[in-house]
Amino acid sequence: MSVNLLRKKSIEELLKMTRQGITLRKELSATDLAMMGIGAIIGTGIFVLTGVGSLFSGPALPISFIIAGITCLLAAFTYAEFASLVPVSGSAYTYSYATMGEFFAWIIGWDLILEYMLAVSSVSAGWSGYFQSLLAGFGIHFPTVFTAAPGAMQGIITYMNLPAFIIVFVITWLLSLGVKESKRVNNIMVVIKLVVIVLFIAVGAFYVTPENWTPYMPFGIKGVFEGAALIFFAYLGFDAVSTAAEETKNPAKDLPRGILWSLGIVTLLYVIVSALMTGMVHFTQFENHQEAPVAFALSVTGQDWLVGIVSLGAAIGMITVMLVMLYGQIRIIFSMSRDGLMPEILSKVHPGYRTPYVTTWVFGLIAALLGSLVPLNDLAQLVNLGTLAAFVMISIAVIILRYKQPDLPRKFRTPFVPYTPLLAIVLCSFLAFQLSALTWLRFLVWFLIGLLIYFLYGYRNSKLHQ
Ligand code: ALA
Repeated sequence: MSVNLLRKKSIEELLKMTRQGITLRKELSATDLAMMGIGAIIGTGIFVLTGVGSLFSGPALPISFIIAGITCLLAAFTYAEFASLVPVSGSAYTYSYATMGEFFAWIIGWDLILEYMLAVSSVSAGWSGYFQSLLAGFGIHFPTVFTAAPGAMQGIITYMNLPAFIIVFVITWLLSLGVKESKRVNNIMVVIKLVVIVLFIAVGAFYVTPENWTPYMPFGIKGVFEGAALIFFAYLGFDAVSTAAEETKNPAKDLPRGILWSLGIVTLLYVIVSALMTGMVHFTQFENHQEAPVAFALSVTGQDWLVGIVSLGAAIGMITVMLVMLYGQIRIIFSMSRDGLMPEILSKVHPGYRTPYVTTWVFGLIAALLGSLVPLNDLAQLVNLGTLAAFVMISIAVIILRYKQPDLPRKFRTPFVPYTPLLAIVLCSFLAFQLSALTWLRFLVWFLIGLLIYFLYGYRNSKLHQ
């Protein structure tokens, strides 16, 4: 590897760049960030993937959530340290540019694009399931060929998931109008999402049949880990908060708080919800109710209005996930383009709305297409692998930077370095190896395409090269 691949940006340079003009509006507070985090985190993972997850973990699903939650918490510490140190747009991509050099930064940025883009697509597919079941409640049905991605339903011919496409299109449009508008919409929807979850907990607690919890681990600890690798998806999004550093009023203090608060709150909610779900119905019943398992668990109450309200809240909740994820993705591409690693047009800021509108539309439409054409389970697994890889890389970066530049002003310090990031690396790798070989192959292909683009375009056009 040539030395040039390791060229780095200095942290001082990064900070100077944000002061010099090409910046975004600063208007987010710690509370906004926590709302953003919760908005990005709670979605398809808890509302849809819990059904499939319970088929691996059984009633021990809450343990899977705790394992995945601890893994994310460890990674969150490292994200928070970097976010407080390098409060500029671009998340882990920017952090690694300043620490491990351009080549690694490209790899991680490319990986993050996969994570965020496919997360938006996955959630759109999950959303479509709840949306269609809501419409069905009113007797409205989409033509079958437009209800799912090709190959998503065995024995049924489908062309595309039209509702999934439409929702991502609308979200792209909202984001192109600007942060302020999206933030307001986001905050309202986050509140709705929390209300329906609390409603589920408050009512569901009275309908638990403790016998459903035995045997607790029908597939042993192996099943619990496999479940954890799948429902890991439910935690994705907290890192999206760190992509908003440039739009945050006091990033050094507010970012770590926003990340850690949002993660803590959702972990608690997930553990309670998954314990109740598997207590309300026997986990084997989720086999035939994978599209809307939360709604199915609630149906044992016999209260149709409640099922309807929770389904509506879930659908609305998933909208916020897509909003924040797409927002995060756009900011990462914006940063990569600003650095010359991607074409300049992608960092073009709209004169009126002050948003990177070209990137917004290009990648919003790609996410919409993927969500409507690829089945949810395939997408979600790949997203998990991409994210776990990003967590490993950022944990390595934290350790490197601590040793190389120990005196940098870190407003937030990961506790017990190097042990915390090392443990994060071990846990993330362990979960990653629970995923299928096909998922690994797809990941490898994405990675190779990324290398090709870097060496054919990014390397030569990088601002550092010039
Ligand atoms: N954590 C997000 C969700 O579950 C991606 O939808």
